[in-house]
Amino acid sequence: MYLIWSLKVRTIIIILSFSFLLLPNQVFSEDFDNGKKVYRKCKACHTIALGAKHRVGPNLYKVINRKAGKAEGYRYSKAMKKSDVVWNEENLSQYLVNPRKFIKGTKMAFAGLKKDIDIINVIFYIKEMSKKN
Ligand code: HEC
Repeated sequence: MYLIWSLKVRTIIIILSFSFLLLPNQVFSEDFDNGKKVYRKCKACHTIALGAKHRVGPNLYKVINRKAGKAEGYRYSKAMKKSDVVWNEENLSQYLVNPRKFIKGTKMAFAGLKKDIDIINVIFYIKEMSKKN
């Protein structure tokens, strides 16, 4: 009897915690089209298509979850090469808020994105574009 009761309680707790996890996602749902708009700010310096040429900055195809400074054939700053950062979503978000604060000495001359929602959407855009080939 006790066992059944405790299992039920556990199920309720699990369901509740998942619903809390889902909530912020619903409020800030990722949006490809808005991500594309934000990406216009990156376009001056970055390409995103598979195999596209590096510009001022490296090609960003499949950059998410890759180690920093690893795009083939691009000359990174020493700071970026030595950073030992992996571009997971958490690190990339912090970088995009203020690149030169997150990686001191980076040569990415970009002031940063002010709005959380812009960062969420541009990361979503990069992820989606990296699925294409
Ligand atoms: C003025 C040019 C410029 C703009 C605008 C710019 N970047 Fe960059 N970006 C660079 C340069 C240059 C580097 C290489 C930095 C280094 O080596 O220190 C870089 C590096 C990066 C990296 C690391 C890549 C790697 O392979 O480790 C990411 C991710 C990135 N930029 C994303 C973005 C995003 C997203 C935007 C738009 C919101 C953006 N950048 C806007 C120039 C720019």
